[in-house]
Amino acid sequence: MDKPTLFSPPKSFSDEANITDETIYQSSAANPEKYWAEWAQQLHWFTPWHTILDWQPPHARWFDGGTLNASVNCLDRHLSPRAHQPNLSDHTAILWEGEPGDERRLTYQELHQQVNCFASVLQQLNIKPSDRVVIYLPMLPELIIACLACARIGAIHSVVFAGLGIDSLSQRINDLAATLVITADYSWRRGKKLFLKNTVDRSLKNCPSVKKIITVTRDPNQSTPTCHLSPKRDLIWHKLMSAATNHYPPSHQAAEDILFVLYTSGTTGRPKGIVHTTGGYLTQVYATTKWILDLKPTDVYWCTADIGWITGHSYVIYGPLMCGATVFMYEGAFDFPNQTRVWQMIDRYKISVFYTAPTAIRQFIQWGKNLPALSDLTSLRLLGSVGEPINPSTWHWYHHYIGRERCPIVDTWWQTETGAIMIAPLPGLTKLPPGSATQPFPGISTAVLNSAGHSLPPNQSGSLAITQPWPSMLRGIWHDEARYRDNYWSQWHNQSYFTGDGARLDQQHNFWLLGRIDDVIQVAGHRISSTEIENALVSHAAVTEAAVVSKPDELKGEAVVAFVTLLPNRRPSPALIKSITKRVADRVGPINKPAQIIFTPQLPKTRSGKIMRRLLRNIAAHQPLGDTATLADPAVISHLTQATNSPSSKSARHK
Ligand code: WTA
Repeated sequence: MDKPTLFSPPKSFSDEANITDETIYQSSAANPEKYWAEWAQQLHWFTPWHTILDWQPPHARWFDGGTLNASVNCLDRHLSPRAHQPNLSDHTAILWEGEPGDERRLTYQELHQQVNCFASVLQQLNIKPSDRVVIYLPMLPELIIACLACARIGAIHSVVFAGLGIDSLSQRINDLAATLVITADYSWRRGKKLFLKNTVDRSLKNCPSVKKIITVTRDPNQSTPTCHLSPKRDLIWHKLMSAATNHYPPSHQAAEDILFVLYTSGTTGRPKGIVHTTGGYLTQVYATTKWILDLKPTDVYWCTADIGWITGHSYVIYGPLMCGATVFMYEGAFDFPNQTRVWQMIDRYKISVFYTAPTAIRQFIQWGKNLPALSDLTSLRLLGSVGEPINPSTWHWYHHYIGRERCPIVDTWWQTETGAIMIAPLPGLTKLPPGSATQPFPGISTAVLNSAGHSLPPNQSGSLAITQPWPSMLRGIWHDEARYRDNYWSQWHNQSYFTGDGARLDQQHNFWLLGRIDDVIQVAGHRISSTEIENALVSHAAVTEAAVVSKPDELKGEAVVAFVTLLPNRRPSPALIKSITKRVADRVGPINKPAQIIFTPQLPKTRSGKIMRRLLRNIAAHQPLGDTATLADPAVISHLTQATNSPSSKSARHK
């Protein structure tokens, strides 16, 4: 590997950054428990803990004996004067824009009142601590209010992404035996109404545990929601709220009480309900928001993730509110009414920290570099990336056209299971190699291991492992201890956590993430990760997005098949195929040249934006497609099957 060019943080950024002391890496490693306890002390506790960490592999307990409340740490704490902290009562907590252009603003004081009101509503409905409340809401402020109100009374929230359908919703409700569902009549998506309450009604045919549904009316000028309401079961959010008292004393939760359960898909089987608890989760989410996203109360911060995913939980709700920042939320599609929407909103609201996913950035690249140039993006000071490895060429585009070479980029590696960011730069400190998530956060221990559990030297690919317990780690899979042990701890006999991701270290001890382990391709006995070939493809000037899978090959065992999306003004041609193939050969070696290139206007993605490689593998091998329920846009399948059979794709085959 060539040594990458490093990008140092601009002095103006470092001068103001929340952390610039490099010795923190050594001091935290010398005594991680002490270090984490110092972070935990910055939260508000009703009673202090007696034990920092109790580690009985594979089960960790953090801050046992302590009691606290998540909503107090996000809200109440900012409303009373504290030493060296501003009073944020009148500071904007949530800034919201609907897809049609409607706006809402809630100060910390107003958000606090709404959360208290909804906590009283929950109590009146007889929701008790540790009852499960399923929240199936679009990106509306009510989604944050509902989560924080659950936290205030000690109920467990489980947010289901509002783009998931009937079966996904009923499966989750039943797994949790939830008694209450919160939804909205509809939400706007690309100018159309998505009727969420109808989906809930259809799901509930098979969900005997649910007693009540609360529906938010999307249009605040309407007195009743646009949906069917059953007098026995259905309640209307704003009616309940107008009758509720705005003072609800927070419950004192034990540090290890469950805050939420969030479902995530495994490679096989039904979704897993990932369990997160309170004290350790809040501690690490707070620490990483403060040091990696560098958030301060003066920031207007936009994380584009939906709250239905872990990124939305940790870095739309809990982290930024604990830091007292202004959280920007947007309801709809990025390209509605046109592809300048994102840049216009950054300009309009003077967003200072922008956190998004490589898949979104690649979409922006496809839409063109001229569009961000039409808006004033000078309010931005820091950019973030999460969800997939960021290709170096995508990194450079983001850095140049969005950050205008003034903004550091934090590439953050983590998972639903880890609860908070685990590997990322500290933006005031780290010299950035484009494409690497760099170093574990202080207090976190990660390694690249082989199957026997031995650390691998630099430049050898292996499995990314987490070698010490961390505060925001999952505490289990809801009602499935065996799967918890088997999925995450059986590989290395409870010694290290198995992430399922491939990685390698470079000579400078930076971590390079190589995608999921099951995406590793073996051509003629030579292992290469899909990410490395994809990076080479995307570095070609005509290519905006690429996904690489393997298909069985008689000679080589596996052959590389590349699905490629071109810039809108480029057309497939034999010359282009040749030049793309040459690019891959130059960058990652002739052995890894794609045996076939399939051009497609879109790649199949899950609703959280991850490329569905399993589907691509089946298409490449002409196998049945299998389950396509989690596809964000089902229309992509016909494009792909057509593209696979088209002459231009066949002509890419080489001998
Ligand atoms: C991938 C999202 C490379 C990885 C927070 C991980 C990444 C999975 C990165 C978790 C990154 C996430 N670089 N890969 N910066 N961030 N991933 O649970 O494969 O939706 O295991 O959590 O996304 O996805 P999840």
